[in-house]
Amino acid sequence: MQETIETQIAQAWTAAWNDGNYDPLRDLLAPDFVRESKGSEKSVDADGFIQQIHEMRQALPDSTTTIERVLTHGDEIGLFWTTDGTFTQPLGNVPPTGRQVTTSGATLSTIKDGKIVYEQATWNMTALLADLGLPSLASAFEEIAPDREAGTEARELLKEFNKQFVTGVTVITAHDEDGKPRGLAANAYCSVSLDPPLILVCVMKSSSTYPSLFRSDHIGINILSTQQRATLDVFASKSKDKFANVDWRPGPHGTPLLEGSAASIEVEVKERFQALTHTIFIGRVQHAEALDNDPILYKGGKFFDSDGLTAL
Ligand SMILES: Cc1cc2nc3c(=O)[nH]c(=O)nc-3n(C[C@H](O)[C@H](O)[C@H](O)COP(=O)(O)O)c2cc1C
Repeated sequence: MQETIETQIAQAWTAAWNDGNYDPLRDLLAPDFVRESKGSEKSVDADGFIQQIHEMRQALPDSTTTIERVLTHGDEIGLFWTTDGTFTQPLGNVPPTGRQVTTSGATLSTIKDGKIVYEQATWNMTALLADLGLPSLASAFEEIAPDREAGTEARELLKEFNKQFVTGVTVITAHDEDGKPRGLAANAYCSVSLDPPLILVCVMKSSSTYPSLFRSDHIGINILSTQQRATLDVFASKSKDKFANVDWRPGPHGTPLLEGSAASIEVEVKERFQALTHTIFIGRVQHAEALDNDPILYKGGKFFDSDGLTAL
């Protein structure tokens, strides 16, 4: 009896994870089935579990799951597995990186009357999450709509606060999966540390450039100069081909660097922190160049020439 259910479980897992055939697994799950994940402490029912498998299979369409061991102890069955695949399709709100991922874990199933009534999953998500750039898998499925509950008053106050903060304007660049240069204007740039040389940029997930930035190992950051006032408008727009009338060249790490910028850097992406509607990219500087060109200044929604400022 136990041997039969072991084989059934192994076959049902293989059918679900490798072939997308969820029927044998569904047949094995008791109506009151519950699956708990150690670590996230989240639990799902049968439908939720099958939905999770479906979402992972969609994100890694070439994935292969291998069952390494099945162990029985009384009415409990332990299953040890490894999944390999390429992250080529979005997972929740995370754009694909095109990278190869290996993830492994174990599940402990409790059997009653030939059905799985309870399953405890222990999953070593480290490799997968490192590739996704997420602190937890749950954040891949977080609601990313702006918080409409927050008072408009607080938003207006923050706007007024931001208006008093003077910044430069950068263009953040990368290539899309077809090798086409992509970029957007951003003033959410900040130096994080000099040693190690880290910076951050903050990009909204609804930007059309965002998936290209997310999948890239390196991104370029160009501080716009007063010669590039027209370029700023192009990169602040939704234009399909922003590089068509702009002079640029690939830097030593391949990212698009804009000619005539006040300064440009190329960074290796180290972290991609999720901040609801935005992602904070932390990059380690790999290449830097600065020219004498005066940077554009941005204050209160207007742009200014930084030449001739009075020192205090
Ligand atoms: C001065 C200025 C600063 C901006 N800063 C940011 C920023 O820090 N992060 C961001 O995601 N968008 C920022 N934007 C908005 C994007 O440039 C804009 O939404 C652009 O159309 C995005 O293009 P895309 O959807 O083609 O990527 C800024 C725009 C301007 C004009």
